[in-house]
Amino acid sequence: MTAPHKNIAIVGAGVFGLSTALHLSESGYKNVTVYDYQPYDESAYDPNAGCDSASADLNKVYRCFYGKQTEYQDLAFSGRETWLNWNKVIASSAPEDLPKGLTPNDQLLVINGVIMISGSKELSEVDQESLAALDRAGLRHHQHVLLDKQDIQRLWDKDAEDPSHWKDKIESLNKAGGGGLNGFIDTSAGFTYADKACVWVRHLAAKAGVRFVLGPEAGKFDQLLVEERECGKRVKGLRTADGKEHFADVVVIACGGWTPSIVPEVENLLETTAGSVVTIALPKDRKDLWDKFSPEKFPVWAYGVSGSTGPEFGGFYGFPRTADGVIKIGYRGRKWTNYQTHPKTGKRLSVPKTRYTVDRAENLPKKAIDNIKVVIAELFPELKEIGITDTRMCWYTDSIDNSFVIDYVPDYNDSLFVASGGSGHGFKFLPVLGKHVVNALERKPDQFTQLWKWRSSEPGTPANGLEEGEQSGRNLADLQLAEESDWSFKEASAQHGSKDHDRAFANVDQLSPEVEQIFISA
Ligand SMILES: Cc1cc2nc3c(=O)[nH]c(=O)nc-3n(C[C@H](O)[C@H](O)[C@H](O)COP(=O)(O)OP(=O)(O)OC[C@H]3O[C@@H](n4cnc5c(N)ncnc54)[C@H](O)[C@@H]3O)c2cc1C
Ligand SMILES: *[C@@H]1O[C@H](CO)[C@@H](O)[C@H](O)[C@H]1NC(C)=O
Ligand SMILES: *[C@@H]1O[C@H](CO)[C@@H](O)[C@H](O)[C@H]1NC(C)=O
Repeated sequence: MTAPHKNIAIVGAGVFGLSTALHLSESGYKNVTVYDYQPYDESAYDPNAGCDSASADLNKVYRCFYGKQTEYQDLAFSGRETWLNWNKVIASSAPEDLPKGLTPNDQLLVINGVIMISGSKELSEVDQESLAALDRAGLRHHQHVLLDKQDIQRLWDKDAEDPSHWKDKIESLNKAGGGGLNGFIDTSAGFTYADKACVWVRHLAAKAGVRFVLGPEAGKFDQLLVEERECGKRVKGLRTADGKEHFADVVVIACGGWTPSIVPEVENLLETTAGSVVTIALPKDRKDLWDKFSPEKFPVWAYGVSGSTGPEFGGFYGFPRTADGVIKIGYRGRKWTNYQTHPKTGKRLSVPKTRYTVDRAENLPKKAIDNIKVVIAELFPELKEIGITDTRMCWYTDSIDNSFVIDYVPDYNDSLFVASGGSGHGFKFLPVLGKHVVNALERKPDQFTQLWKWRSSEPGTPANGLEEGEQSGRNLADLQLAEESDWSFKEASAQHGSKDHDRAFANVDQLSPEVEQIFISA
């Protein structure tokens, strides 16, 4: 158990490590050190400059609708004010007071609306649950059901009062399914500029006294320093790759997809899996597309993610263009694994493989590219002539039930702690997550203690895919990878229309049973 006089070492400077560090320092902890092998002070979390953590990205969805999972709805809303306040503080800062990677023109959270398109003319069950839960919380005025005349009229009224191009935003998705699909738009939701948000929170934490030890040698976790005593074992610190020993009362492992290879005890609780992401860089001379896909006129969208009423879509989502004209689109219907032998334990487990790991990821599985292309052709045929510019495997840390894992590792006498299991939806909680991590560290029960506690799956029961192990059909070694030539739409396979739509969804493999479909929406 911790208290403010204790020394805390955090390994990992992604969302989970950063938020923990910030809240520890705000709770009076004077000796908090964060280790990461990424030189984030120089690279500013830029995904094109060597950063490959889930947190180091162009953008992430910020939404507060969460089906029946009202704990997450509450948590997302509880961070909203801080996000918006950070926008204000940055805007009013002098450029020289901001860290590398940020200027006063940067916003961290953009509330441009999130539109959920279901797979049919019906609202999916999860969407209905979300709307009912928001209604109970007094937040239903933020959402508008697309095929509900009155509800959508309220949106046009909003536009008249405060023009936010809501009509453009809704029309930009109206090719889905040939038009006329149901769904809803949430005007309180939007996206975060993920890399910039991490830069900002690292800056806040450092200003509050948190020490950062970064870089491929000094910041790289090598091993735990474990003390074996007669009465049991205890972690007394860690060794980094430069051979230095660092002592601490509690070591917090917040290594995202790398967590299972660092803490083997999580093997029945966490699995490292990849989401498929593509980017499309708009040509400079296509002012029409720069305009159409701008955050002012284009929403965050998800298609088929919560479509439990229609055919199993598998889930696609996308963002407005960035300031550099880059559109990001993701596919989460199938999550990939990369099973390898752990050098120390000899066990097989899934580990990240990115464009920057030694065993380099060069491309996505061909199935992912094929499915994404069909959805691009269906929703945004004008992007076909540009084609896919780049791809990325982005590594999730999925827990058996898609809830986070924030607790002490058993049998270490409260000296080793895990803050992970983001399960594809952790980013939006950056401002508030750490508050509850501190509660868990101090063993002060709160709303999330039960949800995030140490747990394990029952052998033989569905565990969000973890139970499938290496023989899941999702392991990269068993899959055909795409070639760069697959990124273009020039082949015959990419005419659009409903035939392609059917083909895409016939391609989507039978999903492993997702515990809560809502979580697959980021
Ligand atoms: C494709 C994809 C899309 C997503 N979309 C959304 C979304 O739209 N909205 C949302 O809210 N959430 C989303 N998420 C989830 C969110 O990104 C994650 O929950 C969150 O970023 C996880 O943060 P983390 O700190 O646990 O892990 P990470 O961000 O992966 O950070 C782990 C850190 O540990 C470091 N590390 C690893 N090994 C070592 C070592 N040996 N020594 C030192 N440091 C080490 C890494 O360098 C890294 O900095 C998405 C995730 C993915 C993968
Ligand atoms: C566990 O921690 C407590 C308090 O820090 C200490 O008194 C006790 O000796 C420790 N036990 C072991 C097995 O290390
Ligand atoms: C922080 O904790 C470490 C490990 O116990 C210790 O070596 C170091 O002196 C402490 N630093 C301060 C400023 O208290």
